[in-house]
Amino acid sequence: MPLKSCCVYSTGVFSVLFLVLGIALILSHVFSHAVQSLVRKEVILKNGTEAFEAWENPPAPIYMQFYFFNVTNSLEILDGDRPAVVQIGPYTYREYRPMEQVNFQDNGTKVSAVNTKTYVFVRNMSRGPESDLIRTVNIPAMTVMERVKNSVIQASLISAYMRGADQGLFTTRTVGELLWGYEDDLLTVVKHLVPDLDNVFGLFYKRNASNDGDYVFFTGQQNYQDFARVDTWNGKSSLNWWSSDECNMINGTNGASFHPVITKNEELYMFSSDLCRSIYGLYEEDVTVKGIPGYRFSLPAKVFANMSVNPANAGFCVPAGNCMGSGILNVSLCKQGAPIIMSSPHFYQAEEKYVQDVFGMEPQKEQHQTVIDINPLTGIILQAAKRLQINVYIEKISAFSQTGNVRTLVFPVVYLNESVVIDDASVLKLQAVVREQEVLANIPFILIGLGIILGAVFIILMCRQKVPESTAAERKPLLTS
Ligand SMILES: *[C@@H]1O[C@H](CO)[C@@H](O)[C@H](O)[C@H]1NC(C)=O
Ligand SMILES: *[C@@H]1O[C@H](CO)[C@@H](O)[C@H](O)[C@H]1NC(C)=O
Ligand SMILES: *[C@@H]1O[C@H](CO)[C@@H](O)[C@H](O)[C@H]1NC(C)=O
Ligand SMILES: *[C@@H]1O[C@H](CO)[C@@H](O)[C@H](O)[C@H]1NC(C)=O
Ligand SMILES: *[C@@H]1O[C@H](CO)[C@@H](O)[C@H](O)[C@H]1NC(C)=O
Ligand SMILES: *[C@@H]1O[C@H](CO)[C@@H](O)[C@H](O)[C@H]1NC(C)=O
Ligand SMILES: *[C@@H]1O[C@H](CO)[C@@H](O)[C@H](O)[C@H]1NC(C)=O
Repeated sequence: MPLKSCCVYSTGVFSVLFLVLGIALILSHVFSHAVQSLVRKEVILKNGTEAFEAWENPPAPIYMQFYFFNVTNSLEILDGDRPAVVQIGPYTYREYRPMEQVNFQDNGTKVSAVNTKTYVFVRNMSRGPESDLIRTVNIPAMTVMERVKNSVIQASLISAYMRGADQGLFTTRTVGELLWGYEDDLLTVVKHLVPDLDNVFGLFYKRNASNDGDYVFFTGQQNYQDFARVDTWNGKSSLNWWSSDECNMINGTNGASFHPVITKNEELYMFSSDLCRSIYGLYEEDVTVKGIPGYRFSLPAKVFANMSVNPANAGFCVPAGNCMGSGILNVSLCKQGAPIIMSSPHFYQAEEKYVQDVFGMEPQKEQHQTVIDINPLTGIILQAAKRLQINVYIEKISAFSQTGNVRTLVFPVVYLNESVVIDDASVLKLQAVVREQEVLANIPFILIGLGIILGAVFIILMCRQKVPESTAAERKPLLTS
């Protein structure tokens, strides 16, 4: 009899113990903290770590796709009609972007590097060859006209030259020329007047097999949240194109790597030299990519909102005080004075007037937003798409008959979609980590389950001990039947 009750009581004690332990483990997050601190230690930029290898040479294939807007009513536009465009694309390039000239500094807390990008045309993922013709705004001409419009003599000389050379507001060029550059007669002539202009024009001119400047990154050795964060770009820790210190800040990584242990309430900052500014993503929803759990971060409308919606954006009005509408960014200063305006494709999240101004704009969240799906524990990118549209600001310039009666417009030229999906080898590695995390996360629940079972056993045993013989005997047949 004493032995039996000892067993019964120890069942009770263990039941309580397991329950308390399980609940304590859940509340204290011991296991998730342990896993997180392990990951934090591994994810630093240090020669030999997996994180360094993936940073130096991204294993997943990256594709850069271009969608051009072919102008269909150029004559009517010059008469003051609303432009009509047809989207043509994609023209797809495989993008290779290794980090080069990698040098560790300051006891391994920083690393300097350049990010060399090479683009190789992929014909079977493209709508047509690079020799396809696109009619679009003559950006060199628009740039030159804007540059000299206030000098009567220069303007009349150049206007006469343009008439002779049959150069107008629109031009028809191949996809290859528009992207990678072509020699422009007008620019060659104007070079004598405005020496800082290049006589070759292309939206991605000099961008193949070259880099966007010298970077110094933090390695994350001191603080995991600094992993791959940009310290300086071209030797400077801030920009000088914008009119406030806040807007000139270089925030976050270069968008290709993120720190581990990502939380839902953080602003995921990244600096984009294409955009000439830092931007951030906010948590949107949970996603699963190739079986790996992730958080989807996307750019909130606030990032490109105008000053009245987001006062922090006041500094993006250039020159100071000259604000454009929501959803667009004047990057003229960082594009050698060309009247270039950036936006999301099809003016997604921009003011309705920009969408209405051009026939053929159809903003859609799924296709046109910038998203990053990221595994929160490791910070590894599962899938991402950076989407940007390059536009030109056009207006009637009275000194140039070439501009006819054109409306004042933000004119879409091309949009790009730079995307990546995690490769299968990385998925396998991540699966192991995710499974480990899941097993550990389940331990407290297993303990609680055990506690409940033991508790039930304990109660049954107690009842049996207390219950008078007669009732127990009456019950037995019931249970066995
Ligand atoms: C990393 O180590 C390898 C071999 O030990 C060496 O060849 C390479 O130069 C190192 N890389 C850097 C950036 O120090
Ligand atoms: C970019 O350069 C690489 C090699 O340097 C070359 O193979 C590729 O064709 C070039 N791409 C374009 C679009 O010119
Ligand atoms: C495209 O062509 C390349 C070879 O040039 C091939 O490796 C690849 O599998 C092809 N892709 C598709 C989608 O057909
Ligand atoms: C773009 O428009 C021009 C002029 O209408 C036309 O010649 C050209 O074929 C179009 N491009 C494509 C790829 O359809
Ligand atoms: C950079 O981050 C700071 C906060 O750390 C923020 O106030 C500022 O607006 C950010 N700037 C840009 C351009 O994102
Ligand atoms: C864009 O910025 C440039 C440089 O500050 C400025 O000259 C130009 O007027 C701006 N464009 C518009 C449309 O405000
Ligand atoms: C700013 O954007 C909001 C929403 O797009 C719009 O209602 C407002 O008129 C804009 N303000 C200015 C000054 O452009």
